[in-house]
Amino acid sequence: MKRLLSLGHDGPSRAADSAWQQCIRPACGATYELKSVHQRCERCGALLDVAYDWERLPVPDRLALFDERRASSRHPLDYSGVWRFRELLPFADLDKVLTIGEGQTQLRRTDGIAAYVGLGPGRIFLQYEGLNPSGSFKDNGMTGAFTHANMMGAKYAACASTGNTSASLALFAGVSGLLKAIVFIGSGRIAYGKLSQALDYGATTLQIAGDFDDAMRQVQEVCLQTNLYLMNSLNPFRLEGQKAIMYRVLEGLNWEPPDWVVVPGGNLGNSSAFGKAFAELHQLGLIPRIPRVAIINSTGADALDRLVNQAGLRWNGGAVDDAAIAAFYTQMDAEKRKAHTLASAIEINRPVNLDKALRTLEVTNGVVRAVPDEAILDAKAQVGACGFGCEPASAASVAGARLLREQDVIGRDERVVCILTGHLLKDPDATVGYHAFDDEQLRRKYGSFGVRHARHANRPIPVPDDIEAILRVIRQL
Ligand code: F0G
Repeated sequence: MKRLLSLGHDGPSRAADSAWQQCIRPACGATYELKSVHQRCERCGALLDVAYDWERLPVPDRLALFDERRASSRHPLDYSGVWRFRELLPFADLDKVLTIGEGQTQLRRTDGIAAYVGLGPGRIFLQYEGLNPSGSFKDNGMTGAFTHANMMGAKYAACASTGNTSASLALFAGVSGLLKAIVFIGSGRIAYGKLSQALDYGATTLQIAGDFDDAMRQVQEVCLQTNLYLMNSLNPFRLEGQKAIMYRVLEGLNWEPPDWVVVPGGNLGNSSAFGKAFAELHQLGLIPRIPRVAIINSTGADALDRLVNQAGLRWNGGAVDDAAIAAFYTQMDAEKRKAHTLASAIEINRPVNLDKALRTLEVTNGVVRAVPDEAILDAKAQVGACGFGCEPASAASVAGARLLREQDVIGRDERVVCILTGHLLKDPDATVGYHAFDDEQLRRKYGSFGVRHARHANRPIPVPDDIEAILRVIRQL
């Protein structure tokens, strides 16, 4: 392995002969050229990874080189919070990289949330992915997938989405002008902040009469039957970009791994990417130990939680019990169990990256939990009161950390990073509903499904248009 003692000028691209796509199931292990497009392994149907021959690639001898050399650079590849780590996702032809300045995010120590979770000062850090150009972590992955799409000369791209992927795809398509975006969304369940982005950025928006799981099934079929490039996290190049979230977390902690990374789980792309990032860094000798990853479902969309904690499903070195998964979904369909949560971003019951998430759990000694919507929205209000705020799904990480602390799975002295995946303004209805709606208004908006126990509601105070009345209220504060 060539160890870099400094970073600076990029050498000629080595990607073509040192990176390829590979089936993640070791029993198959089929490989595919880097410059080819496959949804899954053509031989066995499993997911694909981007794999590297690290022996032939130049890798820094320590992680601190990245921020020493690139954190303040104005070069577009260095400004990107993804591509300034390009030696750790070395698949791209660098002249084909499509970046819109993604990944300029922050890791913030947040003692108010530490107290809420049941930890002492300095124990909780929030990773604000809502600061990305489209307002969610998806931009980290989209720059990876767009770069591969550019290498392939794609002209059309599609995704299914609970909202953020479609917003990100639409934004990248609009800014780059490289290709036309077609987004598939379920009916009625997408938060308006996200829908407004897809529409305004000019993506063709197909509203399927069904939910996300239906849209996901359809978009895969459409991409197989046409030349649309699939931008969902099935696409391994998206997950290469999302690895960078962990590089920035480590950077924010001065390259000292935390004890835990807690992340919401929907389609399970992020958790999959995090596990791969840590496995590679450890293999390369760049981190001394691997943090534990906790994946948090909503109880209304808890396929992973049930599969892992009830059915006992494990990665098992790649020998996953497919029959158990099939039986689980048969049962789910027989019971007509659909995903249903106010954390609409993770309203998913058939996560496409299930295998990779199981692998992450094995590699990181991880855990899975599910938290109810009430806990998610309470946690969200606490995040808002202590920081930049987040959308409901993101706060599942904080609610999950709190649960894991209560269960003493997270120890009292451990350092925990919660990933806040999306911006507060993505879903203003959820926020206003929580803080301002009474029971009747909630029932009208959500039917029997409203959240009634807003423990941290910050209610607006109605006052007459009268100075004395206003002063009376102010003086009581
Ligand atoms: N948080 C937010 C804000 C999301 O938008 C998503 C996924 C997740 C968490 C879950 O991440 O899928 O990697 O496990 N949103 C996808 C979408 C599904 O279509 O925007 P995951």
